[in-house]
Amino acid sequence: MVTCSAPGKVILLGEHAVVYGKAAVAMAVDRRIRCTVKKKAEGVTEVNGFEINFKHHSYILEACELIGIDEPLKIDTSSELHSGAGLGSSAAITIATLGALHEFQGDKPDKETIAKEGFFVEGKVQGPASPIDTSTVTQGGAVILSCDVLKNHLWSIKKDDRTWNIHSTPVPDMTIVVGYTGVHALTSGLVAGVKNFYQKNTFARDVVDEIGELVLEGISAMEDGDLNMLGELMSRNHKLLKILGVSHPKLDSLVKASLRYSYGAKLTGAGGGGSMIALTDKPEKVSEVISKKGGLPFILEPAGSGVKVESPR
Ligand code: MEV
Repeated sequence: MVTCSAPGKVILLGEHAVVYGKAAVAMAVDRRIRCTVKKKAEGVTEVNGFEINFKHHSYILEACELIGIDEPLKIDTSSELHSGAGLGSSAAITIATLGALHEFQGDKPDKETIAKEGFFVEGKVQGPASPIDTSTVTQGGAVILSCDVLKNHLWSIKKDDRTWNIHSTPVPDMTIVVGYTGVHALTSGLVAGVKNFYQKNTFARDVVDEIGELVLEGISAMEDGDLNMLGELMSRNHKLLKILGVSHPKLDSLVKASLRYSYGAKLTGAGGGGSMIALTDKPEKVSEVISKKGGLPFILEPAGSGVKVESPR
């Protein structure tokens, strides 16, 4: 029996625009998904006691196919993340499963290989997007994606005519409060909506460019530990994401309420519901206002570790 885990993530700056090759910054968080794999004597592979099927286990099924598993397995998962909360649960289940399957087979792939496999699996299930979630939860800590090669380069991922470069970056001393709206929205639909807008409308392309520019400022702010600047950029990023049509009235209300006690706040991940994040040094106050507005708050320890074998073969 083997167990592997992977963390969730928050996107600090640059979601959606990263799909068009703009830079983005994400961070693994200290809430994880675990995947346990063991041999099953006969029959078909089971996930959490049910026969594996695409409808309920799409990421796990695609991961098994990619690794080329040809014997029945008993796969069990457990999660500290709400699925659909915009906190990278799809990436975490994909990467934890890939890690566990490799360990089960006695392979020892490096993180780059697992991140690339994860991007492939996520793409098969969700359709085209960027490797930000899968690379962040594989690597852990804070991660920058950009088409340019920056310092602390980890690996590159190519798809069609785009190359994303993945870098690690130090995390300043900071506290993030998440506010979960409880509204579930599909990443694939939101990415497709932005694509439609982007292709038809120069204004949408200008908004994506503007997000790309503010992320570059954000990378410097992170390096300088300038939380005032980082927060201001997060709030601007939220307004631009709202223009792209991926916010939700509940997200806007939680962002607005948090701003009173925060350096800045924004939706995180695909949007349309899911969660917002606030950068703050008053996490209790922010949690209180998020609760009052009907959100579910939790305070995050930044920069969880990446994919990890918890029980080896
Ligand atoms: C989802 O967490 C982030 C998006 O930018 C999609 C992607 O880049 O894969 C919305």
